[in-house]
Amino acid sequence: MSSEFISAAPHAGGDRPAVQIDGVSKSFSGTVALEPVWLKIRRGEFLTLLGPSGCGKTTLLNLIAGFLEADGGELFIDGDLVTQVPPHQREIGIVFQNYALFPHMTVAQNVAYGLRTRKVAKAEIAQRVREALELVKLEDFADRRPRQLSGGQQQRVALARALVIRPRVLLLDEPFSALDRNLRTAMQVELKEIQSRIGLTTVFVTHDQGEALSMSDRIAVMSRGRIRQIGTPSEIYDSPQSHFVSTFVGDANLFSAELVDRAAADVTLDVGGTRLPLSTFQDELPEAGPVTLVVRPELCRLTAADTPGAIPAKVALSVYQGSYAELHLDCPAAEEGRVMLRVPAGEALAAGTAVGIALPDRGPAIYAREEQAA
Ligand SMILES: Nc1ncnc2c1ncn2[C@@H]1O[C@H](COP(=O)(O)OP(=O)(O)OP(=O)(O)O)[C@@H](O)[C@H]1O
Ligand SMILES: [Mg+2]
Repeated sequence: MSSEFISAAPHAGGDRPAVQIDGVSKSFSGTVALEPVWLKIRRGEFLTLLGPSGCGKTTLLNLIAGFLEADGGELFIDGDLVTQVPPHQREIGIVFQNYALFPHMTVAQNVAYGLRTRKVAKAEIAQRVREALELVKLEDFADRRPRQLSGGQQQRVALARALVIRPRVLLLDEPFSALDRNLRTAMQVELKEIQSRIGLTTVFVTHDQGEALSMSDRIAVMSRGRIRQIGTPSEIYDSPQSHFVSTFVGDANLFSAELVDRAAADVTLDVGGTRLPLSTFQDELPEAGPVTLVVRPELCRLTAADTPGAIPAKVALSVYQGSYAELHLDCPAAEEGRVMLRVPAGEALAAGTAVGIALPDRGPAIYAREEQAA
């Protein structure tokens, strides 16, 4: 393994954020793609933009890269104002889903491209290309053409090509979405390893919540052109601050409930006639009245049907998943009439079995009904 990348001096800029986005917004012919966004990305941080299709992830990435001009706001990289700086002068590495390699060039020539356009000396180019290919474990493939590589290898060349310029920030837009599941997992591990080893500030776009949870230092969850919540993966998963975030990130069971009593963080709910005392992590709670109770599957416990305090349900379907089974339950108290739990594969129950669902007294979240539209 080469030492050059690892020991590369951090870019100048002291404690300033690697990227600072101050009120940057973008509309396309009157339609808002991105509401004004404020965001500071720390040096060396792996930040993921996560959200459904059309929420503005690529737009935000393109604004950072300089491929789009912001309607308003300012953008700083390492403390330098770059709002008006063209993309090639921003010192950013980019890997897009369809950022095709040059087919007529070898792997080494593809990787060298950014250094040649920057007029780097020949000997240094050779050295840095070698290091970049070592970093992505493709040192033996330097003379191949892209069509002689697998999809995963091609994406690694694209990554090497982005890394070789020693970018101040690496931007990746769904880089692994065309790869099959095993390769995708392998690439995730590889990218995360390289990224943390060289301490490279990275902005990663995905709509895959599993990918976001496993790779990120922080996740910015977006919907409809806004950042809805930003935090560590466990903050996002364990303490979602809105109905949207709780259901977009991670599996969630939704129950119709009535908030009947509340003292500070302690509330009492009525879930389909069952009284449930609950202690919540939420800063803001809805007023008394109809609410949605959001509970992760792993917090729901299967009990005998007649257990006091348990929510009545009936097994509708058991889906074998290898190491575990998903039990889909018909549950009148659930918002869509269904609840999903995971049980060890050997403990799956036959369809029609009456069961109870014991809900935990801490962990779930409560949102006012009308928030569901957000
Ligand atoms: N060049 C464009 N002209 C007009 N509208 C655009 C343009 N680019 C994006 N949009 C619109 O802006 C919104 C945000 O698009 P964007 O590509 O940022 O979404 P995204 O979050 O990356 O989605 P996906 O996950 O599908 O890639 C969408 O409604 C999209 O239709
Ligand atoms: Mg996109």
